[in-house]
This record gives sequence, structure tokens and C-alpha cells, in this order.
Amino acid sequence: MAYLNENYLKLKAGYLFPEIARRVKAFTEANPEAAKRLIRCGIGDVTEALPEAVRAAMHKAVDEMGDRSSFRGYGPEQGYDFLRNAIANNDYKARGIQVDADEIFISDGSKCDTGNILDIFGCGNKIAITDPVYPVYVDTNVMAGNTGEADDAGAYAGLHYLKCTPENGFVPEIPSEPVDLVYLCYPNNPTGATATRAQLEAWVKYAKANGTIILYDAAYEAFIQDPEVPRSIFEIEGARDCAIEFRSFSKNGGFTGVRCAIVVIPKGLMGKKKDGTTMAVHPLWSRRHSTKFNGVSYIVQRGAEAIYSEEGKAQVAALIEHYMGNAKLLVEACKNAGLQVFGGVNAPYVWVGCPAGVTSWQMFDKMLNEANVVITPGSGFGSAGEGFFRISAFNSRANVEEVCKRIAALQA
Ligand code: MLT
Repeated sequence: MAYLNENYLKLKAGYLFPEIARRVKAFTEANPEAAKRLIRCGIGDVTEALPEAVRAAMHKAVDEMGDRSSFRGYGPEQGYDFLRNAIANNDYKARGIQVDADEIFISDGSKCDTGNILDIFGCGNKIAITDPVYPVYVDTNVMAGNTGEADDAGAYAGLHYLKCTPENGFVPEIPSEPVDLVYLCYPNNPTGATATRAQLEAWVKYAKANGTIILYDAAYEAFIQDPEVPRSIFEIEGARDCAIEFRSFSKNGGFTGVRCAIVVIPKGLMGKKKDGTTMAVHPLWSRRHSTKFNGVSYIVQRGAEAIYSEEGKAQVAALIEHYMGNAKLLVEACKNAGLQVFGGVNAPYVWVGCPAGVTSWQMFDKMLNEANVVITPGSGFGSAGEGFFRISAFNSRANVEEVCKRIAALQA
């Protein structure tokens, strides 16, 4: 009989979003009438249609696939040049950032990328994560055997937790000791916070001094409204020596169901071997990609490329404006209800303090039962998320207006 990977047995309960789905299902079965008015603001899943430019490009690509002379089979695992060039030119070079097309890897999602990246790192690394955190960073480290068991509060032995609180603006202090890998996500999921240039400069300085690699998740960069807020870690001088960046088409282009994302690994980024010598990280990820992945479909990559066309840019801007308009309404509604509110200004997530004495899951149940609104309990993102809940701004305007009314009507 085959041995199993028992690291999986260390994982706490369910992954947050399936656990929410389980509770919502139970509520729906027990309350079929109330379930009809349920509004889901839990998982950050887009609701609006794919941009027209994207659909047109995908239709055209489908037609190409239907003609023997333009049909494509396996594509390059790292992604087609047309998309890698569009990304390098628009996301980076146009903003004065040095990233070459061959430092860009096209994938099927940032969730997969931030998990899979562990394949190319050895064991024994000191790994730091923020608390609260996007649960994928933690759970994939547990699965990979990079942690011990979890304690009663859900903290895993071996991980370095960096507390993110209202006091530090949800940007962690620089650790007092060296770590090998640190996950940073800005604009942040779940708190909606952003990191300033000075804060990122401090992280890059720390990383360079300690040989740390920053795993920078910029999946929500398109939602930044403030021109002073960095949209890429590579805007920071020296970051090419110490960072990997993850970006996604899920939230800006509405690709959660289409699947396409980006990993940027500068060719000069180095890691160390057991014998003490160093080598570049890029060829390892390239090799991993070639061996375990056959590339994102041609049709999807043509759709992603269209995001960078003039029409595509305008249509994406309209989507962002829509979701950020929702975020503004949610922020106001929560403030008017007397709740403490964070985020929702440069990010599509609104992070709200629970009323005194109410836990995150109690608030989840209250919102589900009394307002028939699904939110995400803060404690699902880590122990420092206790006492908060997250509302996703990904919804129709009508639904968000209704959620705002229901928040106003909530009994204390
Ligand atoms: C979230 O709700 O945190 C996101 O939808 C998760 C994801 O993008 O995988």
C-alpha cells in the first residue's frame, strides 16, 4: 500500500472558502426562503462580463484553431511571446520598470503559482508570512512539509508570523531576525491595505542584507487609485536582486473562470545550494514549468493580450471603476453603521472591525442569518484576523446597494 503525504493531516479544518460554502449550503437547506435573497460577498470572485475586447480576441483565436493552417497545438510552456512582450511593455517598460519578456512566465493562476513556487525551494528555509494572510501561502507550506503542527490558535510551528494590525497599517514590521522567504501581498488580501514606497524600500533593503527572497503577490495592483502607491515590487530599486512577483488577470480582466496569470523572476535573482554556492532561480522555475505544465491555452493568451489593446485598457478601467465604486459604497455603509473600516480605497476588499465582543465567525453567522449576506470571517485568514470580517466588492451595483441597506438595518 502506498504511503501518503501526512503533511496534509496537519492542515486545520477545511480551506477557508470551502468551509464558508459548507456553512452557506447548510443555511440554504435549512432556510430555503431566506436563501433566495442571499447575496454573496465572501470569496473575491468577479461578477461582471469579460471585456468585449477580450471576447473578440478569443473568438478570433477559436476561429484560428478551426483552420488547419492557423491551428496551434502545444504552445511554449512559458507562454507565447506575443503575451510576454505585451506584459513586459505595458506593465513594466511603459512605467519605467526593467522586466524583460523572458523573465515573465504565463500560468493558469496566482493561487497555483504562489503554491507551486515552493517546488523550487529546498527544505529548511525560514519562511515568514503575514497574519492575517491569504491562506494559500500557509497551507501550501504545510503540504510541502515546511511546518510542524498547528497550535490551538492555528499557528504552525516553524512559520514566522508577522502581525498586521490597524496600528501598523497592516504592513508588518521588518523582522528582527533573518528569514529566507517572505510572502508580501499588496494591495493586501484580506485587509485591503497598501504598502508605501518607503515601506517596500525597507523590505527590499532587509531582503538584500539577509539574502531573503520576497514573494510579492501583486494580484490586486490594478485596483490602486493613489498614484503614489507602488504597483510592482520592481519599482523599488534593488528588488530585482531579491524578489519574485506574481500578477493575475483574474481580478482586473475578470479571468477567474478563464485562468491566466504571470510570474516574474529576474534572471539575476539568486538562491543558495547546500554546498554554499549560489545559482540563479530563473532556470529552476523554467524547468519546473516545462516539466509540470503545458502552458495556458492559445485562446486564453490571446484574450489576455487584448487587455493591453486600447479598447481592452478602457474596458478594464471601467470594470475597476465599477468594483471600486462598490467598495466606496460598502466603506460608507459600514462607517455609517458605526463599524471600524479599513481598505476599500486602493483594493476591492473592505476590512471591517466586528462590534465589541463579537467574534469573526459570530459576525459571519449574524450576517448570514439576519442580513442573508455572506462575508468572510477574519479569523479564517489567521489569528490576527480575529475580530474582523472582509466584504468583497466584487458584485453587481444593485447587490452592493442592497447589502448596504441590510448593513444599515442590522440590529446591534
Ligand atoms: C479571495 O476571496 O481571497 C480570493 O478570491 C481568493 C483567490 O483569488 O484565490
